[in-house]
Amino acid sequence: MTLKTAPHVHIETFGCQMNESDSELVRSMLKQEGFAFTEDRERADVVLVNTCAIRENAHKKIYAHLSELRAIKKQRSLVVGVLGCMAQNLKTELAEKEPLIDVLAGPDSYRQLPLLLANALDAQEQGLRKKAFALDLSEYETYESIMPDRNDGVNAWITVMRGCDNFCSFCVVPYTRGRERSRDPESILLEARDAAVRGFKQITLLGQNVNSYRHVEWDFAKLISAVADTDGIERVRFTSPHPKDFPPALIDTIAAHPKLCKHIHLPLQAGSDRILELMGRNYTGAEYLALVDRIRAIIPDVVLTTDIICGFCSETDAEFRDTCRIVEQAQLDSAYTFKYSERKHTIAARKYADDVPDQVKGQRVLKLVEIQRAITAARNRRYIGKDVEILVEGDATRSPTQSMGKTDGNITVVWEKGTGDFWPGTLITKQIFDASAATLYGE
Ligand code: SAH
Ligand code: SF4
Ligand code: F3S
Repeated sequence: MTLKTAPHVHIETFGCQMNESDSELVRSMLKQEGFAFTEDRERADVVLVNTCAIRENAHKKIYAHLSELRAIKKQRSLVVGVLGCMAQNLKTELAEKEPLIDVLAGPDSYRQLPLLLANALDAQEQGLRKKAFALDLSEYETYESIMPDRNDGVNAWITVMRGCDNFCSFCVVPYTRGRERSRDPESILLEARDAAVRGFKQITLLGQNVNSYRHVEWDFAKLISAVADTDGIERVRFTSPHPKDFPPALIDTIAAHPKLCKHIHLPLQAGSDRILELMGRNYTGAEYLALVDRIRAIIPDVVLTTDIICGFCSETDAEFRDTCRIVEQAQLDSAYTFKYSERKHTIAARKYADDVPDQVKGQRVLKLVEIQRAITAARNRRYIGKDVEILVEGDATRSPTQSMGKTDGNITVVWEKGTGDFWPGTLITKQIFDASAATLYGE
Protein backbone atom coordinates (compact mmCIF):
# COMPACT_ATOMS: atom_id res chain seq x y z
CA MET A 1 0.00 0.00 0.00
CA THR A 2 1.30 3.42 -0.82
CA LEU A 3 -0.93 5.23 1.69
CA LYS A 4 1.06 7.04 4.38
CA THR A 5 -1.09 6.15 7.37
CA ALA A 6 -2.97 2.93 8.00
CA PRO A 7 -6.27 3.00 6.10
CA HIS A 8 -9.28 3.02 8.40
CA VAL A 9 -11.97 0.44 7.85
CA HIS A 10 -15.54 0.56 9.11
CA ILE A 11 -17.54 -2.65 9.01
CA GLU A 12 -21.31 -3.05 9.28
CA THR A 13 -22.78 -6.49 9.78
CA PHE A 14 -26.23 -7.69 8.77
CA GLY A 15 -27.77 -11.17 9.06
CA CYS A 16 -27.14 -14.00 11.46
CA GLN A 17 -24.54 -14.74 14.13
CA MET A 18 -22.45 -16.50 11.49
CA ASN A 19 -21.96 -13.13 9.82
CA GLU A 20 -21.08 -11.53 13.18
CA SER A 21 -18.48 -14.22 13.60
CA ASP A 22 -17.18 -13.76 10.03
CA SER A 23 -16.83 -10.00 10.57
CA GLU A 24 -14.61 -10.77 13.56
CA LEU A 25 -12.44 -12.94 11.31
CA VAL A 26 -12.29 -10.24 8.64
CA ARG A 27 -11.21 -7.67 11.23
CA SER A 28 -8.48 -9.97 12.46
CA MET A 29 -7.14 -10.64 8.94
CA LEU A 30 -7.18 -6.97 7.99
CA LYS A 31 -5.55 -5.78 11.23
CA GLN A 32 -2.75 -8.27 10.64
CA GLU A 33 -2.10 -6.63 7.29
CA GLY A 34 -1.88 -3.14 8.75
CA PHE A 35 -5.45 -1.87 8.41
CA ALA A 36 -6.97 0.06 11.32
CA PHE A 37 -10.64 -0.05 12.34
CA THR A 38 -13.02 2.74 13.24
CA GLU A 39 -16.55 2.79 14.65
CA ASP A 40 -17.04 6.13 12.91
CA ARG A 41 -18.16 5.70 9.32
CA GLU A 42 -17.37 9.35 8.56
CA ARG A 43 -13.67 8.74 9.27
CA ALA A 44 -13.39 5.54 7.24
CA ASP A 45 -11.33 5.09 4.08
CA VAL A 46 -13.01 1.75 3.50
CA VAL A 47 -16.56 0.74 4.37
CA LEU A 48 -17.34 -2.96 4.39
CA VAL A 49 -20.91 -4.24 4.48
CA ASN A 50 -21.30 -7.86 5.51
CA THR A 51 -24.62 -8.84 3.99
CA CYS A 52 -27.46 -11.34 4.34
CA ALA A 53 -29.64 -12.90 1.65
CA ILE A 54 -32.04 -15.01 3.67
CA ARG A 55 -35.21 -13.04 2.80
CA GLU A 56 -35.99 -10.18 0.44
CA ASN A 57 -36.24 -7.85 3.47
CA ALA A 58 -32.59 -8.49 4.16
CA HIS A 59 -31.71 -7.39 0.62
CA LYS A 60 -33.88 -4.29 0.97
CA LYS A 61 -32.14 -3.22 4.16
CA ILE A 62 -28.78 -3.54 2.46
CA TYR A 63 -29.84 -1.60 -0.63
CA ALA A 64 -30.99 1.21 1.68
CA HIS A 65 -27.63 1.11 3.41
CA LEU A 66 -25.77 1.20 0.10
CA SER A 67 -27.62 4.33 -0.94
CA GLU A 68 -26.35 6.06 2.21
CA LEU A 69 -22.84 5.08 1.16
CA ARG A 70 -23.47 6.42 -2.34
CA ALA A 71 -24.20 9.83 -0.82
CA ILE A 72 -20.91 9.77 1.10
CA LYS A 73 -18.95 8.59 -1.92
CA LYS A 74 -20.23 11.52 -3.97
CA GLN A 75 -18.45 13.88 -1.60
CA ARG A 76 -15.13 12.16 -0.95
CA SER A 77 -13.01 9.17 -1.82
CA LEU A 78 -14.19 5.93 -0.28
CA VAL A 79 -13.64 2.28 -1.05
CA VAL A 80 -16.80 0.18 -0.63
CA GLY A 81 -16.62 -3.58 -0.14
CA VAL A 82 -19.67 -5.81 -0.03
CA LEU A 83 -19.14 -9.13 1.74
CA GLY A 84 -21.27 -12.06 2.77
CA CYS A 85 -24.26 -13.94 1.52
CA MET A 86 -25.89 -11.30 -0.67
CA ALA A 87 -22.59 -10.66 -2.43
CA GLN A 88 -22.24 -14.39 -3.04
CA ASN A 89 -25.85 -14.81 -4.13
CA LEU A 90 -26.14 -11.89 -6.53
CA LYS A 91 -22.52 -11.91 -7.66
CA THR A 92 -21.60 -9.43 -10.33
CA GLU A 93 -25.24 -8.51 -10.94
CA LEU A 94 -25.03 -6.58 -7.68
CA ALA A 95 -21.87 -4.73 -8.63
CA GLU A 96 -23.33 -3.82 -12.02
CA LYS A 97 -26.48 -2.43 -10.41
CA GLU A 98 -24.49 -0.57 -7.77
CA PRO A 99 -21.58 1.25 -9.39
CA LEU A 100 -20.34 2.39 -5.98
CA ILE A 101 -19.09 -1.11 -5.12
CA ASP A 102 -15.33 -1.58 -5.50
CA VAL A 103 -14.90 -5.03 -3.99
CA LEU A 104 -17.22 -8.02 -3.70
CA ALA A 105 -16.15 -10.95 -1.54
CA GLY A 106 -18.16 -14.05 -0.64
CA PRO A 107 -17.96 -15.96 2.66
CA ASP A 108 -15.13 -18.28 1.55
CA SER A 109 -12.94 -15.56 0.03
CA TYR A 110 -12.05 -13.34 2.94
CA ARG A 111 -8.35 -14.25 2.91
CA GLN A 112 -8.13 -12.25 -0.32
CA LEU A 113 -9.61 -9.10 1.23
CA PRO A 114 -6.41 -7.39 2.43
CA LEU A 115 -4.96 -7.54 -1.07
CA LEU A 116 -8.18 -6.57 -2.84
CA LEU A 117 -8.73 -3.59 -0.56
CA ALA A 118 -5.09 -2.46 -0.81
CA ASN A 119 -5.36 -2.59 -4.60
CA ALA A 120 -8.64 -0.69 -4.56
CA LEU A 121 -7.13 2.03 -2.35
CA ASP A 122 -4.08 2.29 -4.60
CA ALA A 123 -6.24 2.50 -7.71
CA GLN A 124 -8.38 5.18 -6.10
CA GLU A 125 -5.28 7.24 -5.25
CA GLN A 126 -4.30 7.11 -8.89
CA GLY A 127 -7.78 8.16 -9.93
CA LEU A 128 -8.59 4.76 -11.41
CA ARG A 129 -11.71 2.67 -10.84
CA LYS A 130 -11.29 -1.07 -10.98
CA LYS A 131 -13.78 -3.49 -9.53
CA ALA A 132 -12.52 -6.70 -7.93
CA PHE A 133 -14.49 -9.84 -7.19
CA ALA A 134 -13.64 -12.83 -4.99
CA LEU A 135 -16.59 -15.16 -5.13
CA ASP A 136 -15.29 -18.71 -5.18
CA LEU A 137 -16.85 -21.11 -2.72
CA SER A 138 -14.50 -23.63 -1.18
CA GLU A 139 -14.91 -27.16 0.08
CA TYR A 140 -12.15 -26.71 2.64
CA GLU A 141 -11.93 -23.13 3.89
CA THR A 142 -12.68 -22.93 7.62
CA TYR A 143 -10.35 -20.04 8.56
CA GLU A 144 -9.22 -22.28 11.37
CA SER A 145 -5.78 -20.76 11.82
CA ILE A 146 -7.22 -17.27 12.28
CA MET A 147 -7.99 -16.05 15.78
CA PRO A 148 -11.00 -13.73 15.49
CA ASP A 149 -10.78 -10.14 16.68
CA ARG A 150 -13.85 -10.35 18.93
CA ASN A 151 -16.42 -7.75 19.81
CA ASP A 152 -16.48 -6.95 23.54
CA GLY A 153 -19.15 -8.55 25.65
CA VAL A 154 -19.79 -11.69 27.62
CA ASN A 155 -20.27 -13.97 24.63
CA ALA A 156 -17.70 -15.31 22.18
CA TRP A 157 -18.92 -16.81 18.89
CA ILE A 158 -17.02 -19.80 17.58
CA THR A 159 -17.91 -21.07 14.14
CA VAL A 160 -17.47 -24.85 14.21
CA MET A 161 -18.64 -25.66 10.72
CA ARG A 162 -19.32 -23.76 7.54
CA GLY A 163 -21.76 -24.26 4.71
CA CYS A 164 -24.78 -26.53 4.56
CA ASP A 165 -25.63 -29.65 2.57
CA ASN A 166 -29.29 -29.87 3.51
CA PHE A 167 -30.72 -27.90 0.62
CA CYS A 168 -34.06 -27.17 2.28
CA SER A 169 -35.97 -26.10 -0.80
CA PHE A 170 -36.71 -22.54 0.44
CA CYS A 171 -33.20 -21.75 1.63
CA VAL A 172 -30.43 -19.81 -0.04
CA VAL A 173 -27.69 -20.71 2.45
CA PRO A 174 -26.25 -23.72 0.56
CA TYR A 175 -25.75 -21.39 -2.42
CA THR A 176 -24.20 -18.54 -0.44
CA ARG A 177 -22.06 -20.55 1.95
CA GLY A 178 -21.31 -23.65 -0.06
CA ARG A 179 -20.67 -27.22 1.00
CA GLU A 180 -20.70 -28.30 4.58
CA ARG A 181 -17.32 -28.69 6.30
CA SER A 182 -16.36 -29.10 9.95
CA ARG A 183 -13.39 -27.52 11.67
CA ASP A 184 -10.63 -29.37 13.44
CA PRO A 185 -11.75 -29.75 17.09
CA GLU A 186 -8.28 -28.83 18.38
CA SER A 187 -8.52 -25.41 16.74
CA ILE A 188 -12.00 -24.94 18.25
CA LEU A 189 -10.74 -25.83 21.74
CA LEU A 190 -7.77 -23.49 21.31
CA GLU A 191 -10.18 -20.67 20.47
CA ALA A 192 -12.35 -21.56 23.45
CA ARG A 193 -9.34 -21.33 25.79
CA ASP A 194 -8.29 -18.05 24.20
CA ALA A 195 -11.81 -16.63 24.69
CA ALA A 196 -11.76 -17.70 28.35
CA VAL A 197 -8.36 -16.06 28.91
CA ARG A 198 -9.72 -12.85 27.40
CA GLY A 199 -12.55 -12.86 29.92
CA PHE A 200 -15.48 -14.14 27.87
CA LYS A 201 -17.87 -16.13 30.06
CA GLN A 202 -20.06 -17.67 27.40
CA ILE A 203 -19.30 -19.44 24.15
CA THR A 204 -21.85 -19.94 21.38
CA LEU A 205 -20.91 -22.57 18.82
CA LEU A 206 -22.19 -21.74 15.36
CA GLY A 207 -23.08 -23.73 12.30
CA GLN A 208 -26.04 -23.94 9.94
CA ASN A 209 -26.60 -27.53 10.87
CA VAL A 210 -24.49 -28.11 13.95
CA ASN A 211 -25.56 -31.61 14.83
CA SER A 212 -23.99 -32.93 11.66
CA TYR A 213 -20.58 -31.73 12.92
CA ARG A 214 -18.09 -34.50 12.22
CA HIS A 215 -14.30 -34.55 12.34
CA VAL A 216 -12.53 -37.92 12.31
CA GLU A 217 -13.78 -39.51 15.55
CA TRP A 218 -15.41 -36.34 16.88
CA ASP A 219 -19.15 -35.71 16.73
CA PHE A 220 -21.08 -32.71 18.00
CA ALA A 221 -21.87 -34.18 21.42
CA LYS A 222 -18.18 -34.85 22.07
CA LEU A 223 -17.26 -31.37 20.83
CA ILE A 224 -19.70 -29.43 23.01
CA SER A 225 -18.79 -31.30 26.11
CA ALA A 226 -15.07 -30.67 25.49
CA VAL A 227 -15.78 -26.96 24.92
CA ALA A 228 -17.89 -26.84 28.09
CA ASP A 229 -14.91 -28.22 30.05
CA THR A 230 -12.91 -25.05 29.24
CA ASP A 231 -11.78 -23.40 32.51
CA GLY A 232 -13.31 -19.99 33.02
CA ILE A 233 -16.25 -20.51 30.66
CA GLU A 234 -19.58 -20.51 32.51
CA ARG A 235 -22.01 -21.26 29.71
CA VAL A 236 -21.93 -22.93 26.31
CA ARG A 237 -24.69 -22.53 23.75
CA PHE A 238 -25.03 -23.61 20.14
CA THR A 239 -27.18 -22.85 17.12
CA SER A 240 -28.81 -24.36 15.11
CA PRO A 241 -29.44 -28.07 15.15
CA HIS A 242 -31.72 -29.74 12.59
CA PRO A 243 -34.61 -31.83 13.95
CA LYS A 244 -34.04 -34.56 11.37
CA ASP A 245 -30.98 -35.94 13.10
CA PHE A 246 -30.94 -35.11 16.77
CA PRO A 247 -29.14 -38.06 18.33
CA PRO A 248 -30.14 -39.23 21.83
CA ALA A 249 -26.47 -38.97 22.87
CA LEU A 250 -26.63 -35.22 22.21
CA ILE A 251 -29.67 -34.83 24.48
CA ASP A 252 -27.89 -36.83 27.20
CA THR A 253 -24.76 -34.71 26.85
CA ILE A 254 -26.71 -31.47 27.24
CA ALA A 255 -28.56 -32.90 30.23
CA ALA A 256 -25.38 -34.07 31.92
CA HIS A 257 -23.05 -31.09 31.63
CA PRO A 258 -23.87 -28.22 34.01
CA LYS A 259 -22.27 -25.64 31.70
CA LEU A 260 -24.23 -26.65 28.61
CA CYS A 261 -27.25 -24.36 28.50
CA LYS A 262 -30.61 -26.03 28.63
CA HIS A 263 -31.81 -24.20 25.55
CA ILE A 264 -32.33 -25.75 22.15
CA HIS A 265 -33.35 -23.83 19.06
CA LEU A 266 -35.19 -26.39 16.98
CA PRO A 267 -36.53 -24.96 13.72
CA LEU A 268 -39.95 -26.42 12.86
CA GLN A 269 -40.57 -24.43 9.62
CA ALA A 270 -44.07 -25.87 9.05
CA GLY A 271 -46.56 -28.27 10.61
CA SER A 272 -48.11 -29.86 7.54
CA ASP A 273 -46.42 -33.04 6.39
CA ARG A 274 -46.96 -32.23 2.73
CA ILE A 275 -45.33 -28.81 3.16
CA LEU A 276 -42.48 -30.27 5.21
CA GLU A 277 -41.88 -32.73 2.40
CA LEU A 278 -41.91 -29.95 -0.23
CA MET A 279 -39.47 -28.06 1.97
CA GLY A 280 -37.20 -31.10 2.03
CA ARG A 281 -37.02 -31.14 5.82
CA ASN A 282 -37.04 -34.94 6.27
CA TYR A 283 -39.35 -35.10 9.30
CA THR A 284 -43.10 -35.02 9.88
CA GLY A 285 -45.06 -32.94 12.35
CA ALA A 286 -45.52 -36.02 14.52
CA GLU A 287 -41.78 -36.75 14.47
CA TYR A 288 -41.05 -33.18 15.51
CA LEU A 289 -43.48 -33.47 18.44
CA ALA A 290 -41.94 -36.82 19.42
CA LEU A 291 -38.50 -35.21 19.46
CA VAL A 292 -39.80 -32.39 21.66
CA ASP A 293 -41.20 -35.01 24.06
CA ARG A 294 -37.94 -36.94 24.05
CA ILE A 295 -35.93 -33.85 24.85
CA ARG A 296 -38.32 -32.81 27.64
CA ALA A 297 -38.29 -36.29 29.15
CA ILE A 298 -34.53 -36.04 29.61
CA ILE A 299 -34.19 -32.28 30.23
CA PRO A 300 -37.46 -31.29 31.93
CA ASP A 301 -36.60 -27.59 32.39
CA VAL A 302 -35.33 -27.15 28.80
CA VAL A 303 -36.22 -23.98 26.89
CA LEU A 304 -37.19 -24.76 23.30
CA THR A 305 -37.43 -22.13 20.58
CA THR A 306 -38.17 -22.39 16.89
CA ASP A 307 -38.41 -20.80 13.43
CA ILE A 308 -41.53 -21.01 11.28
CA ILE A 309 -42.19 -20.00 7.69
CA CYS A 310 -45.75 -19.00 6.71
CA GLY A 311 -47.12 -19.16 3.19
CA PHE A 312 -44.60 -21.48 1.58
CA CYS A 313 -45.48 -22.44 -2.02
CA SER A 314 -49.00 -23.93 -2.27
CA GLU A 315 -49.62 -23.91 1.51
CA THR A 316 -53.40 -24.03 2.02
CA ASP A 317 -55.38 -22.61 4.94
CA ALA A 318 -55.84 -26.15 6.26
CA GLU A 319 -52.10 -26.79 6.04
CA PHE A 320 -51.43 -23.55 7.86
CA ARG A 321 -53.82 -24.74 10.57
CA ASP A 322 -51.62 -27.85 10.87
CA THR A 323 -48.76 -25.52 11.75
CA CYS A 324 -50.93 -23.78 14.36
CA ARG A 325 -51.91 -27.15 15.81
CA ILE A 326 -48.30 -28.35 16.09
CA VAL A 327 -47.32 -25.04 17.69
CA GLU A 328 -50.12 -25.40 20.22
CA GLN A 329 -49.22 -28.99 20.96
CA ALA A 330 -45.50 -28.36 21.23
CA GLN A 331 -45.88 -25.46 23.71
CA LEU A 332 -42.45 -24.11 22.81
CA ASP A 333 -40.98 -21.16 24.67
CA SER A 334 -40.79 -18.81 21.71
CA ALA A 335 -40.79 -18.68 17.92
CA TYR A 336 -39.49 -16.51 15.11
CA THR A 337 -42.11 -16.39 12.39
CA PHE A 338 -41.39 -15.36 8.80
CA LYS A 339 -43.31 -14.81 5.59
CA TYR A 340 -41.94 -17.10 2.89
CA SER A 341 -39.64 -15.15 0.61
CA GLU A 342 -38.59 -16.71 -2.68
CA ARG A 343 -34.81 -16.81 -3.10
CA LYS A 344 -32.84 -16.95 -6.27
CA HIS A 345 -31.25 -20.33 -7.18
CA THR A 346 -33.21 -22.33 -4.58
CA ILE A 347 -35.08 -25.55 -5.37
CA ALA A 348 -38.40 -23.88 -4.52
CA ALA A 349 -37.66 -20.97 -6.84
CA ARG A 350 -36.97 -23.42 -9.66
CA LYS A 351 -39.73 -25.96 -9.01
CA TYR A 352 -42.66 -24.40 -7.16
CA ALA A 353 -44.80 -21.32 -7.68
CA ASP A 354 -44.67 -18.68 -4.95
CA ASP A 355 -48.45 -18.59 -5.08
CA VAL A 356 -49.63 -17.64 -1.60
CA PRO A 357 -50.59 -13.95 -1.76
CA ASP A 358 -48.41 -11.68 0.33
CA GLN A 359 -51.41 -10.52 2.32
CA VAL A 360 -52.29 -14.11 3.24
CA LYS A 361 -48.70 -14.77 4.30
CA GLY A 362 -48.92 -11.68 6.50
CA GLN A 363 -52.21 -12.78 8.08
CA ARG A 364 -50.76 -16.21 8.81
CA VAL A 365 -47.71 -14.69 10.46
CA LEU A 366 -49.94 -12.47 12.64
CA LYS A 367 -52.09 -15.41 13.65
CA LEU A 368 -49.09 -17.52 14.63
CA VAL A 369 -47.46 -14.66 16.49
CA GLU A 370 -50.68 -14.28 18.49
CA ILE A 371 -50.84 -17.99 19.30
CA GLN A 372 -47.18 -18.17 20.27
CA ARG A 373 -47.32 -14.97 22.30
CA ALA A 374 -49.94 -16.45 24.59
CA ILE A 375 -47.92 -19.66 24.95
CA THR A 376 -44.71 -17.73 25.63
CA ALA A 377 -46.40 -15.53 28.23
CA ALA A 378 -47.78 -18.60 30.00
CA ARG A 379 -44.42 -20.41 29.82
CA ASN A 380 -42.64 -17.36 31.23
CA ARG A 381 -45.10 -17.10 34.12
CA ARG A 382 -43.79 -20.47 35.34
CA TYR A 383 -40.73 -18.61 36.61
CA ILE A 384 -42.68 -16.24 38.90
CA GLY A 385 -41.65 -16.83 42.50
CA LYS A 386 -38.66 -18.95 41.43
CA ASP A 387 -34.95 -18.21 41.69
CA VAL A 388 -33.13 -18.13 38.36
CA GLU A 389 -29.44 -17.92 37.60
CA ILE A 390 -28.60 -14.96 35.37
CA LEU A 391 -25.47 -14.14 33.39
CA VAL A 392 -25.28 -10.35 33.63
CA GLU A 393 -24.87 -8.62 30.26
CA GLY A 394 -25.14 -4.91 31.15
CA ASP A 395 -27.63 -2.05 30.92
CA ALA A 396 -31.18 -2.83 29.88
CA THR A 397 -32.05 -1.37 26.48
CA ARG A 398 -35.37 0.10 27.59
CA SER A 399 -34.33 1.91 30.76
CA PRO A 400 -31.02 3.27 32.05
CA THR A 401 -32.10 2.49 35.62
CA GLN A 402 -32.27 -1.22 34.87
CA SER A 403 -29.73 -3.95 34.21
CA MET A 404 -30.28 -7.06 32.11
CA GLY A 405 -28.97 -10.54 31.67
CA LYS A 406 -30.01 -13.95 30.39
CA THR A 407 -31.17 -17.11 32.05
CA ASP A 408 -29.60 -20.42 31.17
CA GLY A 409 -32.56 -20.87 28.80
CA ASN A 410 -31.65 -17.58 27.07
CA ILE A 411 -34.65 -15.65 28.41
CA THR A 412 -34.04 -11.97 29.11
CA VAL A 413 -34.29 -10.83 32.76
CA VAL A 414 -34.30 -7.18 33.82
CA TRP A 415 -34.04 -5.72 37.32
CA GLU A 416 -33.67 -2.31 38.93
CA LYS A 417 -30.12 -1.20 39.48
CA GLY A 418 -29.15 -0.29 43.00
CA THR A 419 -30.15 -3.69 44.28
CA GLY A 420 -26.45 -4.45 43.93
CA ASP A 421 -24.45 -3.56 40.83
CA PHE A 422 -22.95 -6.46 39.00
CA TRP A 423 -20.29 -6.56 36.33
CA PRO A 424 -21.20 -7.97 32.95
CA GLY A 425 -20.11 -11.59 32.97
CA THR A 426 -21.07 -12.28 36.60
CA LEU A 427 -23.48 -15.06 37.43
CA ILE A 428 -26.12 -13.97 39.92
CA THR A 429 -29.33 -15.43 41.25
CA LYS A 430 -32.57 -13.47 41.42
CA GLN A 431 -36.14 -14.23 42.26
CA ILE A 432 -38.62 -13.50 39.47
CA PHE A 433 -41.67 -11.46 40.52
CA ASP A 434 -43.29 -10.80 37.14
CA ALA A 435 -43.12 -12.02 33.53
CA SER A 436 -44.27 -10.90 30.11
CA ALA A 437 -44.00 -12.64 26.75
CA ALA A 438 -40.59 -11.03 26.22
CA THR A 439 -39.04 -10.53 29.63
CA LEU A 440 -38.77 -11.80 33.19
CA TYR A 441 -38.59 -9.23 35.98
CA GLY A 442 -36.16 -9.89 38.83
CA GLU A 443 -36.46 -8.62 42.41
N1 SAH B 1 -29.54 -23.23 9.44
C1 SAH B 1 -30.60 -22.75 10.16
C2 SAH B 1 -31.46 -21.73 9.48
C3 SAH B 1 -30.81 -20.48 9.11
S1 SAH B 1 -31.89 -19.35 8.40
C4 SAH B 1 -31.45 -23.90 10.44
O1 SAH B 1 -31.61 -24.78 9.63
O2 SAH B 1 -31.99 -23.87 11.51
C5 SAH B 1 -32.93 -18.93 9.74
C6 SAH B 1 -34.37 -19.10 9.46
O3 SAH B 1 -34.78 -18.28 8.40
C7 SAH B 1 -34.79 -20.49 9.02
O4 SAH B 1 -34.93 -21.36 10.08
C8 SAH B 1 -36.10 -20.24 8.32
O5 SAH B 1 -37.18 -20.27 9.23
C9 SAH B 1 -35.94 -18.80 7.82
N2 SAH B 1 -35.82 -18.79 6.35
C10 SAH B 1 -34.87 -19.35 5.61
N3 SAH B 1 -35.12 -19.16 4.30
C11 SAH B 1 -36.27 -18.45 4.22
C12 SAH B 1 -37.07 -17.95 3.15
N4 SAH B 1 -36.70 -18.16 1.89
N5 SAH B 1 -38.18 -17.26 3.45
C13 SAH B 1 -38.55 -17.06 4.73
N6 SAH B 1 -37.85 -17.51 5.78
C14 SAH B 1 -36.71 -18.20 5.54
FE1 SF4 C 1 -30.97 -23.56 5.13
FE2 SF4 C 1 -31.95 -25.94 5.70
FE3 SF4 C 1 -29.31 -25.56 5.67
FE4 SF4 C 1 -30.79 -24.45 7.61
S1 SF4 C 1 -30.51 -26.64 7.25
S2 SF4 C 1 -29.18 -23.45 6.41
S3 SF4 C 1 -32.68 -23.97 6.55
S4 SF4 C 1 -30.66 -25.44 3.91
FE1 F3S D 1 -28.20 -14.41 6.17
FE2 F3S D 1 -26.16 -15.75 5.26
FE3 F3S D 1 -26.79 -15.86 7.80
S1 F3S D 1 -28.10 -15.50 4.26
S2 F3S D 1 -28.98 -15.62 7.80
S3 F3S D 1 -26.11 -14.07 6.75
S4 F3S D 1 -25.99 -17.50 6.56
